Amino acid sequence: MIFIQLTGLSGSGKSTIAHAVKVLLQERGHAVEVIDGDIYRKKLCPDLGFSKEDRNENIRRLGFVANRLAANGVISILAAINPYEEIRKELLNYGNHVKTVWINCDIKTLMERDTKQLYKKAFLPEGHPDKIYNLTGINDPFETPIEPDLVIDTHKNSESASIDMLFNFIIQTVYAS
Ligand code: ADX
Repeated sequence: MIFIQLTGLSGSGKSTIAHAVKVLLQERGHAVEVIDGDIYRKKLCPDLGFSKEDRNENIRRLGFVANRLAANGVISILAAINPYEEIRKELLNYGNHVKTVWINCDIKTLMERDTKQLYKKAFLPEGHPDKIYNLTGINDPFETPIEPDLVIDTHKNSESASIDMLFNFIIQTVYAS
């Protein structure tokens, strides 16, 4: 089965889209798991922070789980920021069943949404006790995905259009494989 690695900034819509697509696929009889960074990171990577090395190790571990599930008939959707090209490429080595989908959203929209108040904290003045110093896309790198299989711009598309785009892509990929 297939393994979709999402990549995109915090608040871009990765989890929302992935969980909605999971429901649509389940309604069609598919086994699906969303390997959500917010959930799996806490359980499988409590030793890891947000340095480049730690983020890559987080993705390596979550990617391993996603790939094992995919090898056993589950459509696996890895929903994490996944900011570095090096580790995204490493996961592609698992095989042709791994696809990369970039959930893209401009910073202006992310700052307006700011559901977790992370962007607000990243823009606090230097030395403020709540300031975040390594927020992806603001003061930490997000490497542009080089050759994604699909890009979904969530600042241009509605939530339901974005969900449809990922759902249709997965269905096409499953039936082509
Ligand atoms: S990744 O970079 O290693 O892929 P992952 O998706 O697992 O990140 O976790 C990101 C989540 O951790 C965010 O959704 C956010 O809730 C939280 N978080 C806490 N600190 C940071 C930070 N400095 N940068 C990004 N996300 C952070």
